[in-house]
Amino acid sequence: MPERLDDRALDQLFRQARTYPAFLPRAIDDATIRELYELLKWGPTAFNAQPGRYLFVRSREAKEKLAPALSSGNRDKTLAAPLTVVFAWDTQFPEHLTTQWDKPSAKALFDDTPALVEPTALRSGNLQAAYLIVAARALGLDVGPMSGFKPDVVNEAFFPEGRWKANFLANIGYGDPSKLAPRGPRLGFDEVARIV
Ligand SMILES: Cc1cc2nc3c(=O)[nH]c(=O)nc-3n(C[C@H](O)[C@H](O)[C@H](O)COP(=O)(O)O)c2cc1C
Repeated sequence: MPERLDDRALDQLFRQARTYPAFLPRAIDDATIRELYELLKWGPTAFNAQPGRYLFVRSREAKEKLAPALSSGNRDKTLAAPLTVVFAWDTQFPEHLTTQWDKPSAKALFDDTPALVEPTALRSGNLQAAYLIVAARALGLDVGPMSGFKPDVVNEAFFPEGRWKANFLANIGYGDPSKLAPRGPRLGFDEVARIV
């Protein structure tokens, strides 16, 4: 039976975890990037479709290619970050349902109703991005998600074939606590939740 995690783990995953604008000068190797995926891939998605796709932008050349897509407030910190992930989604994710889901009716559903593809991909793709954020924190990494960018510019630069589409971005690294601003508040339970 799973046991409740201790307070140290809960602090690291949630209570003390922050959105970092700056990172220590410590590189992220391929093995760590793969380990991130090996954790996030177990998070649940609708029909087990796993529509999320991940472009890890690490080289100077790739960062320069990303730069024109970034809002002015996100540009410098993204160029300085050790790693940036483009959370994308696969417009043809239903192809994989023949191996990832045990009933053929799932692929037929998307073939018959193509309008379901994008909302399904965004819903589960967003969840998968969140799984990556939590996986990163579990590995001792920090993340800075960003929606201030031009998806069309990313799509043209990195996904010209049109199959993957950019959703949002996140910088990843070992956060520099000296660059953190005070934390914003959070809404209270009674403001956001009802138990019926
Ligand atoms: C989907 C998403 C988009 C965001 N976009 C930006 C952005 O474009 N630029 C930025 O500086 N911060 C961005 N943020 C960071 C949020 O402002 C930050 O996560 C939030 O204020 C919580 O901060 P904390 O984790 O330090 O408490 C984004 C966060 C999320 C989850």
